[in-house]
Amino acid sequence: MPRRGPKRQIDIMNKSPDKTVRPSAIIRAAKPSDASALRAYTRTIYAEGKYLITRPQEFRISLLRQRFWIARKSLNPDEACFVAEINGVVIASLECWTDRRRRVRHNTSFAMSVHPGHRTQGIGKKLLLHFIKWVQNHPRIERIELHVHADNAAAIALYRSLGFLLEGTRLGAVRYEDGRTVDDHIMALWPKTDMGAPDNGA
Ligand SMILES: CC(C)(COP(=O)(O)OP(=O)(O)OC[C@H]1O[C@@H](n2cnc3c(N)ncnc32)[C@H](O)[C@@H]1OP(=O)(O)O)[C@@H](O)C(=O)NCCC(=O)NCCS
Repeated sequence: MPRRGPKRQIDIMNKSPDKTVRPSAIIRAAKPSDASALRAYTRTIYAEGKYLITRPQEFRISLLRQRFWIARKSLNPDEACFVAEINGVVIASLECWTDRRRRVRHNTSFAMSVHPGHRTQGIGKKLLLHFIKWVQNHPRIERIELHVHADNAAAIALYRSLGFLLEGTRLGAVRYEDGRTVDDHIMALWPKTDMGAPDNGA
């Protein structure tokens, strides 16, 4: 009989961002009217070219499709897209997606980024904490999963600081245009229990 950890929630919201976040940085769910801003922001992030899979030329989305994409995210109770904005400008985003199949729908995966001009100011941590709280309040999702390039020290430090554990590594799973391969870490957090993954008795 599988044993599970106590149902006590991790008091993760006490892990407040350590750095001073600009007071005007607001975290909120993306709205269809953000389509243009989010698309421009995402283009900037992909143009950076590091630590992400998608190349700029692979991100070809019309404004209409971007609007639909945001609308579908906001209508799906198991998925979300959050943005951070300063004075109406999108400067960070986090999106999650969830498999609908019953045996795996307690998991959700996410990807996030902060605009290069706004990094190391606590915005990434604030955004991720917002998402973790959303999962803690979700009736079914229990586990948060992510993939991160093994050389992405900033992202790994952020995830570790909030309790994400390394579960495994896909060796050489990413190949850059110059032929260099990078390992891909899988990390996860069980934000509703302080015992991590349930003990499956194996
Ligand atoms: C990873 C990323 C989202 C972090 O966002 P951020 O707003 O700069 O992060 P924060 O300022 O909130 O920092 C949070 C924690 O991350 C870690 N961190 C952030 N930048 C770091 C850096 N350059 N080096 C080492 N650790 C770093 C620290 O642990 C920090 O906490 P602390 O300062 O209290 O110790 C941002 O660097 C980014 O967008 N990178 C490019 C896209 C990307 O890699 N996305 C993740 C793909 S898996």
